[in-house]
Amino acid sequence: MPRYRDDAKERIRDAVDFVALVEERTELRRSSGANHMGRCPFHEERTPSFSVNAQKKMFHCFGCGVEGDVFDYVQLVENVDFVGALELLAARTGIELEVEDEDPQAAERRRHRERLLELLERTAAFYERFLWESREAAGARAYLAERGLTEATLRAYRVGYAPSAWDTVLRSSQRAGFKARELHDAGLVVRGGRDGRGRVYDRFRARITFPLADARGRVLGFGARTMGGDRGPKYLNTAENEIFHKGRILYGAHLARAAAGKAGAVIVCEGYTDVLALHQAGVENVVASMGTALTEDQVGELRKLAPVVELALDADDAGQEAMLRAARVAASSRVELRVVPLPEGRDPADVALADGAEAVRALVGRSVPFVRFRVERTLARGDLSSAEGKDKVIEELRPAFATIGESVLREELLAVCADRLAISPDLARSLLLGRGRGARPAASAAPAAARADERPRVPREQRDARLEAAFLALCLALGADGARHLAEVTDEHFSDPLARAAARRLRDAPDAPPEDPELAAYLDRVRRAAERVEASTSATLEVERLQLDLRRVERLQQAAEPGARAALARERIAIRQRLDEAIDRSLR
Ligand code: UTP
Ligand code: MN
Repeated sequence: MPRYRDDAKERIRDAVDFVALVEERTELRRSSGANHMGRCPFHEERTPSFSVNAQKKMFHCFGCGVEGDVFDYVQLVENVDFVGALELLAARTGIELEVEDEDPQAAERRRHRERLLELLERTAAFYERFLWESREAAGARAYLAERGLTEATLRAYRVGYAPSAWDTVLRSSQRAGFKARELHDAGLVVRGGRDGRGRVYDRFRARITFPLADARGRVLGFGARTMGGDRGPKYLNTAENEIFHKGRILYGAHLARAAAGKAGAVIVCEGYTDVLALHQAGVENVVASMGTALTEDQVGELRKLAPVVELALDADDAGQEAMLRAARVAASSRVELRVVPLPEGRDPADVALADGAEAVRALVGRSVPFVRFRVERTLARGDLSSAEGKDKVIEELRPAFATIGESVLREELLAVCADRLAISPDLARSLLLGRGRGARPAASAAPAAARADERPRVPREQRDARLEAAFLALCLALGADGARHLAEVTDEHFSDPLARAAARRLRDAPDAPPEDPELAAYLDRVRRAAERVEASTSATLEVERLQLDLRRVERLQQAAEPGARAALARERIAIRQRLDEAIDRSLR
């Protein structure tokens, strides 16, 4: 985050027309002097009690008591932090935010970045114009209309069309003074030829384009949908580069912000078209994860939008897997995760376009706490026909119960389990909540939470230790693949000394019984956990290993000297990227 020079705030305050700004949301009438009155944008009311002072740039509501200056106002209506408000108002007033004492290198990097952003912005505008004005895009216009998307919606999200020619963006950008290098860095052109030394040409051709913007609406890349004419993927996205990281973007976040703040919840769908369709139906607090499992960064962004996250992902296996992963990521970030029950085989876009806004709202209204979804899914997939099968299901349910404190919800879920497992309520309680007999994998030793609606905050070290134990169990479960992954990790990958010792032992002398009883017990737990691993693939293992790798670098970062930080940061970015790809693969 840049540090802006202190005087920026005052210059912006002077320049902004506060009355005009408020009038975008509510009508104002002059009352006396510099005072204007209108209906409060922050609460429902019939008679005006919201007062704005045009000179002091202050507001106050006599009805609900909300008050502050113009920066507070923007923070409230746009759901941004102070710097966000500063930047929005800077853009609005045309006042440049000067950055304090930058070293020449940082200044150079910032200028480069700004050039790329400018390039992406004008390209987005070009694609958008091309969609509406060109003859070539007639097919795309017809296709979008046939899908029920209106021009207003498409314009709000700046949907566009990339021409089929090989060099339209390349040539027009070069004419405007951009270098091929800059086009390449922005991800807009690629280089052909087998050795990557051939000609440069436009990356996006003959596709419908969806600008992928950051939380402030700045275009960082594109997702581009095929019209069916080429052999490429359905959506071709900008490749990861210095400014575009798919795992950090929530599609549509900038347009969802205000509505999410107001609703106190944000809906997460899978695809671009889901977001457009819901928005069009009047459900505006909606973003998309863009097909993959939510990353930590995305969960962080969601947290900034609203405290409640409603997952409306496909009901298929991949979607359900994605939800479980999202829950794992969310466990540490205090978002309340809920799951929207989608009809099998239909995505939110289908529901919104076929049945309208009310149907979507009704669906969201039927969302359930994540833990209920998890418990029901485990029951639905388990083998409840034999005692052994039931024991296995119970083992799987225990960690889910460990995440909920004493509550009505917990009682309800216990009753559901007792019923479905055909065991007595008392037995269900003691098996699902009891302390077990040491047969549990390290991964299920979670403390009970105080409140049902709050996910327990498990300390970082403990989460690392669980991750490490789970990784070792997977390695054991996956034979040769496991051995290969085990050979690739070092002591640095483990924070838990026991896990470190166990990894060494498993690698070097898997069959010799250890003398240390603590290590022996740990290995025992890992072996048992390995026996319970089901349906895991080497892709899952790859994900786990990269997570260990990520934690390794993050721990090094914490301890690093300033001189070593940049290299570690780069390494971390590279690992994150590989992790995103691996998660993609594991979901396929
Ligand atoms: P879907 O295949 O469900 O696409 O992928 P969609 O958004 O519903 O699109 P339509 O309605 O068929 O046109 C969901 C999301 O996964 C990502 C995109 O973000 C997409 O919106 N995705 C999908 C890709 O990035 N690449 C792909 O090849 C496919
Ligand atoms: Mn879809």
